[in-house]
Amino acid sequence: MDLAKLKAGLKKDFISSSSSEDLQKLKVKYFGKKGKITNLSKQLGKLDIKQRPKAGKKINELKLLFEVLNKSASQKIEKKELETAISKEQIDVSLPVDSDYIGGLHPITRTIEKICSYFSAKGYLIEDGPEIESEYYNFDALNIPQDHPARDMHDTFYLDSGKLLRTHTSPVQIHAIEKHKVPLKILCPGKVYRSDSDPTHTPMFHQVEGLLIDESVNFGNLKKELIDFLNYFFDKNLQVRFRPSYFPFTEPSAEVDIMDKKGWLEIMGCGMVHPNVLEMSGIDSKKYSGFAFGLGIERMAKLDFSINDMRVLFENDLKAISGK
Ligand code: PHE
Repeated sequence: MDLAKLKAGLKKDFISSSSSEDLQKLKVKYFGKKGKITNLSKQLGKLDIKQRPKAGKKINELKLLFEVLNKSASQKIEKKELETAISKEQIDVSLPVDSDYIGGLHPITRTIEKICSYFSAKGYLIEDGPEIESEYYNFDALNIPQDHPARDMHDTFYLDSGKLLRTHTSPVQIHAIEKHKVPLKILCPGKVYRSDSDPTHTPMFHQVEGLLIDESVNFGNLKKELIDFLNYFFDKNLQVRFRPSYFPFTEPSAEVDIMDKKGWLEIMGCGMVHPNVLEMSGIDSKKYSGFAFGLGIERMAKLDFSINDMRVLFENDLKAISGK
């Protein structure tokens, strides 16, 4: 065997290899079943016992040489292959954007804006209120005392501080009375929280609260205000039903249903502000009366944007919420 020739061939082979496939082929050429170095190792057994150590050493040198050459060649090749991959994958930021995906406002935001602009044109002040509330504003001041069964129906999230996440936007009624005195006309959109989750309930949802207090306000005023609004919002003469109901902070109380493709759908609670609520906030309930309503935004958005499952509104699938 001519080791010098083999060594020279090995070096030449590595110099002319330029890809990881080439390197793979070299491995087979030298170490495969019929590989050149494999053959040498096989011949070792046939040699005279005295010659074996020397020959073995030479073969080991050859193996070492292969390893050294293979290592430096594969480092060079990997680097080169990575660079070509990176240059091919470069993103051309000057290309035009996919026009199907220009941004837009969320259906909830659009619904809130539509409702607020309608009522603000009618003279309602748009108010804001805290999402973390005290029991006083969320319950007591709304005529829901500690032992009242209505408290259990609210599935309240309580915080360690003793405060809670508001379960409805009605506490804003109290803040507004304290801030503006009477007469007043306010509207407050915002997030509310209840420990509840299924296809028609999410633990966080949105309401819009409306409150009007003045001298001699009556239930007829409330009905007209809400029917006018619903006809405007859905842009047609809807079938609307006021169904007698109960809320501790309004008397009488009603729930408002509208006729949907699938039948009656409840969309808000309303009523005449309970005299206890007025008196607790220092308003003379003989002189003043008022009405209040609380509207579920998700329900309105679902109808307006034809969305079936309320959870879709919070999953951020752009196709599902880009609507209309
Ligand atoms: N706060 C009530 C609720 O969340 C709705 C409501 C508001 C009812 C105002 C009457 C008056 O269900």
